[in-house]
Amino acid sequence: MQGRGSEIPMASADAFYVTTPIYYVNDVPHIGHAYTTLACDAIARFARLEGRRVHFLTGTDEHGQKVEKAAADAGVAPQAFTDRVSGRFRELARVMAVSNDDFIRTTEPRHLAGVQALWRELVRRDQIYLGRYAGWYSVRDETYFAESELTGGMAPTGAPVEWVEEPSYFFRLSAWQEPLLRLYEERPDFILPPSRRNEVISFVKGGLQDLSVSRTSFSWGIPVPDDPDHVVYVWLDALTNYMTALGYPNTETEAYRTFWPADVHVVGKDILRFHAIFWPAFLLAAGLQPPRRVFAHGWWTNEGQKISKSLGNVIDPVQLIEAYGLDQTRYFLLREVPFGNDGDFSRDAMVTRMNHDLANDYGNLVQRVLSMIQRNCDARVPAPGAYDDADHRLIAAAGDMLARVRAAMAEQALSRSLEMVFEVIASANRYVDAQAPWALRKTDPERMATVLYVLAEVIRRLALVTQAFMPDASGKILDQLAVPDDVRSLASFEDVASALQPGAALPPPSGVFPRFAGQAL
Ligand code: MSP
Repeated sequence: MQGRGSEIPMASADAFYVTTPIYYVNDVPHIGHAYTTLACDAIARFARLEGRRVHFLTGTDEHGQKVEKAAADAGVAPQAFTDRVSGRFRELARVMAVSNDDFIRTTEPRHLAGVQALWRELVRRDQIYLGRYAGWYSVRDETYFAESELTGGMAPTGAPVEWVEEPSYFFRLSAWQEPLLRLYEERPDFILPPSRRNEVISFVKGGLQDLSVSRTSFSWGIPVPDDPDHVVYVWLDALTNYMTALGYPNTETEAYRTFWPADVHVVGKDILRFHAIFWPAFLLAAGLQPPRRVFAHGWWTNEGQKISKSLGNVIDPVQLIEAYGLDQTRYFLLREVPFGNDGDFSRDAMVTRMNHDLANDYGNLVQRVLSMIQRNCDARVPAPGAYDDADHRLIAAAGDMLARVRAAMAEQALSRSLEMVFEVIASANRYVDAQAPWALRKTDPERMATVLYVLAEVIRRLALVTQAFMPDASGKILDQLAVPDDVRSLASFEDVASALQPGAALPPPSGVFPRFAGQAL
């Protein structure tokens, strides 16, 4: 592939490394954090189903002025405060059954050592020099802003800014403008979706200033090597987590050799610049490989309104899961908007997805077919006769689905993938209606057996794919089809030996996608 050759060995071909941003511990987790993590979880699970060796990293960003302030406001020492809030993020990952392989905290020794090593390497390569910063800073965004970027004295994000004047080390970002533009050019899929790529390119073309990478007016951070009056700028500290989690500065660890460069950093659009400009510039400047891709997703609003603490409309993901169910929440968030676009959370939309797509379409298909098999086929996988055109058409549609989903998942098109799955579910439901197996029971039991076999086999394939998105419900469907654990990867999708075996006993079916009957949040 273009632009990948270098002095450093490439990550092995079947390896796959996906990361979430590490979340600030100034506040408790909300739906936005849950969204990014769940999207990465689906991406990681899909890659595992493909048989890839996956490393899925998430964690917490614990240094900087914003966290220091939050700790002071809470009247707690920063470390004790971050221990507490970081625990909430870990707990959320557990409640959401997230399949992360590691959880990194930037206050861990393994991270600190890596950041200091990267700093030294940048100094050694003359990429960092001492100067003085005088300008605006937004603590909420942990970002420096030029005077020209402010509107009405506020940051473009609406956050307040303060005037900062202090000695500071600078990174020679300006020297990396051309190499960055070349990187974007050589690898058109380095930034996805394409609209975001264009934004980044025009920003970089507009010119890059050297970047202040240390602070002296507070102390909650990683000390700058050989100059402990300075702490490392929180973004240089935080971005490095993607490598320190693999063992950097030791680039010979099994994890580093296998997984760096990362396949995809998934981030919200708010932090794309840090990932698509600063991060590859730091890496190139240190002689390291940039990640393969940065994917920026959109932002959620709540019933049309921006989500914010001051508006009091923050959605607690735990409450969401309690009210609607985990797989339902996962499905809604990943299906409702094309990954990359902004989305709006509304109870109506959530309940519609839950009742319409899941209960009526997917759930009902599974329930109808499995109960007919239970009642009419002696609770065993029926033996099919010869297939007619309609059977072939449905089997072919299910077969094509995998190739289409693969292509979509290669671009992190999560919603599109689910759309393709639900097209097959709709076809299968139409097939049930047209074939009317309940009527065949008396008139043509052999044909009934064929129809139910075709349907059960299509459901097996649907459930194999939906494991990435709705792991619990899909697992239950596969259990009800008595699919053994060792044939639940996507290698079993087309494999003839893994198809359902006529005569195999099936357990009694039970519904996996209940209709929403509770009190909407
Ligand atoms: N600590 C930095 C990231 C460092 S990564 C090296 C940070 N943390 S954060 O806690 O503010 O999390 C930001 C991320 O949370 C966003 O990029 C996005 O992934 C997610 N979201 C926060 N609010 C969101 C919405 N309202 N909607 C969707 N996702 C949003 O930035």
